[in-house]
Amino acid sequence: MKYETVTWRNGKVVMLDQRRLPTEEAYVECERPEGVAEAIRNMTIRGAPAIGVAAAMGIALGAMRLRVKNTGRFKEEFERICHMMMETRPTAANLCWAVQRMKEVVRRHEGEGLDELRRSLKSEAMAIREADIEVNRRMGHNGKRYIRNGSAILTHCNAGALATAGYGTALGVIRAAHEEGKDLEVYVCETRPQLQGARLTAWELDKEGIPVTLVIDGMSGYLMSKGLIHLVIVGADRISANGDVANKIGTYSIALLAKTHGIPFYVAAPLSTFDLSLAIGDEIPIEERDSREVTHPFDRQIAPEGVRVLNPAFDVTPHEYVTAIITERGVAQEPFGTSLRDLFS
Ligand code: MRU
Repeated sequence: MKYETVTWRNGKVVMLDQRRLPTEEAYVECERPEGVAEAIRNMTIRGAPAIGVAAAMGIALGAMRLRVKNTGRFKEEFERICHMMMETRPTAANLCWAVQRMKEVVRRHEGEGLDELRRSLKSEAMAIREADIEVNRRMGHNGKRYIRNGSAILTHCNAGALATAGYGTALGVIRAAHEEGKDLEVYVCETRPQLQGARLTAWELDKEGIPVTLVIDGMSGYLMSKGLIHLVIVGADRISANGDVANKIGTYSIALLAKTHGIPFYVAAPLSTFDLSLAIGDEIPIEERDSREVTHPFDRQIAPEGVRVLNPAFDVTPHEYVTAIITERGVAQEPFGTSLRDLFS
């Protein structure tokens, strides 16, 4: 892999600009936390784990840049930056998780000097980044057994290296099976309206030499009815305590189709994507994005001016449609309530 989703270079947070892929590999450098927040909002960087990592790095960047001299002012400004990150995208649980980890550092180092606190915040952000890659590799290890030699896999959106600090969640499982020498074919839904599948997943898999076929979103049923898909693997943005899964809009329809066709539907997600404070998926906040993403994709008008549009970025797949959730700690299955409690204990 010769690209980095998000990293720290010369005192700046540097991100691969995912809006420009697949035609251009350009990096955006942020010198201020406001720049990182905007990059999350405008989807320069996206994907639940990557959003969490970027937010943590943005908070560390903010702490490094704060010129205040007393702890009280530092804490006020720190809280403001955390709040700004939390306001960027509401669905990804990893964002909240990463911000809480950064807040925990401030609590733990209460009473220490500001320079020490700044150093600790930066090393926490870097630790979150490194751990994300490691966690993805473990998920790959735990999930690769579900992919048999010769499998055709359907995936939706981008749950790869680009959606994480590296390696990926759903694509991490696929990568691990590929690294083991299994023959496989990945069908990728293009993922309207932002085309993460077409622009990012197809790019990522192709770069790695994993056979990929791009299909339009409405084609999943056709593919399954023709016996062309053996399993589905997707990532997740937030998972409630009963195993309901919020993921990119369109995931629920694919899960229903998979059930109808007797095809296993797997979700790969790190523990940081779970929100056990929510009993059921209906409680997950769903981000509604700008209607222009639908009517004017990539700055070209494709719908009548002023037409009414719905643009939720995610939907919720009820746990009954999920065969298993692959995590770094093991695999959860029905009954998900008990299975997840065991994983977290
Ligand atoms: O709107 P996005 O591109 O941030 O949505 C991303 C997804 O829905 C991914 O499938 C999910 O975050 C899993 S990423 C490992």
